[in-house]
Amino acid sequence: MQSKLPLVGTTIFTTMSALAAETGALNLSQGFPDFSPPMALLAALSDAANSSSQQYPPMIGLASLREAIAAQVERYRGVAVDDTTEVTVVPGATEGIFCAITASIGVGDEVIVPSFTFAATGNSVAMTGATPVFADIEPDHYCLDPEAVEAAITPRTRAVMPVHLYGHPAAVDRLKAICERHGLILIEDAAQAHAAALRDRPVATWGLAGSFSFYPTKNMTSGEGGMVVTADADLARRVRLLRNQGQDRRYENEIAGLNNRMTDLHAAIGRAQLRRLGEWTAARQSNAKVLDSHLQGVVIPAVAPGASHVYHQYTIRVPGHDRDRFQGELAKRGVGSGVYYPIPNHRLPAFARSEHLPVTETASRECLSLPVHPSLTEADLDFIVTTVNDVARAGA
Ligand SMILES: Cc1ncc(COP(=O)(O)O)c(C=O)c1O
Repeated sequence: MQSKLPLVGTTIFTTMSALAAETGALNLSQGFPDFSPPMALLAALSDAANSSSQQYPPMIGLASLREAIAAQVERYRGVAVDDTTEVTVVPGATEGIFCAITASIGVGDEVIVPSFTFAATGNSVAMTGATPVFADIEPDHYCLDPEAVEAAITPRTRAVMPVHLYGHPAAVDRLKAICERHGLILIEDAAQAHAAALRDRPVATWGLAGSFSFYPTKNMTSGEGGMVVTADADLARRVRLLRNQGQDRRYENEIAGLNNRMTDLHAAIGRAQLRRLGEWTAARQSNAKVLDSHLQGVVIPAVAPGASHVYHQYTIRVPGHDRDRFQGELAKRGVGSGVYYPIPNHRLPAFARSEHLPVTETASRECLSLPVHPSLTEADLDFIVTTVNDVARAGA
């Protein structure tokens, strides 16, 4: 049934959004990317296409997006991104993680990851030739459980990669301590967590490297895209090489690499979106506050002490209800919602592992993500609250 909530944003990207919606990639729980005002975006694209000194602007780099990111970090966090912190933009978080893992560990090494995440997490490990080992999550925040991680360490473990799921920071302080104790690398999958932080320290800066996604449904987008952040100069260089056919200087290829470059056109979209990330994050947080204080009969998302949650998703649990029926009832009444993720990664045919991860398996049966995106109006929020509370009361 067609949702009664407005489809937000999208002007010149209508076609892209429609295509994405057709494949189920977008729904109301995420909102459509807000590319408005279109003239600003067009101007940014036109700038990128015309201001370059090179003949083929889409083939050159990304320095402008890196600079813009550094400026935003300085503005919002009050700290400069120093020269030792590298920001390397790539075509997606998947490629970012792939490059960071390839640059730091080898074939056959084990990387401990959550199973309760998008398959890109395990995929980007598996595609390097390393083995993803799935560990359970904490029940409150759905991120890697440090105790489960410690129990999963074997002599072949080389890295731990938490996911800051739904925009909530994983327990990276405790995971970092475990990694230090066992001589392991910490790499952060921050695909869903732009501007999230733990104890005021931004995600993706706790470990050796972190990777963000700029996919259209994320808190900011570049159309497609991502970036790797690291303060390790050697790793940064290797990531840059892997991103660009193994070459630093043209035709002097040092290692085997791929074409994992982001185009300037995507970087221009990213720059335009980045300017609004602060405002959008605040809107997500304020929407979440309204939902927190008015929803009844469902489990609202918990926030760990010291965590700054950026609500890529606002995920409730509906224990005692049949989650899929609950979702169906919401849809009938006009509220779109999403299930992230109905099949834990260790149960996917791609990985097919035999371990039992009880917290993960329960979460995948009970979780439901409600709309929280920045374009919701007060009336939308009212409507969501009333509808969810009615369904919870009526039983589903
Ligand atoms: C947790 C997580 N990791 C990685 C990715 C991959 O990001 P991208 O689509 O930019 O490659 C996603 C994308 O949805 C994600 O949610």
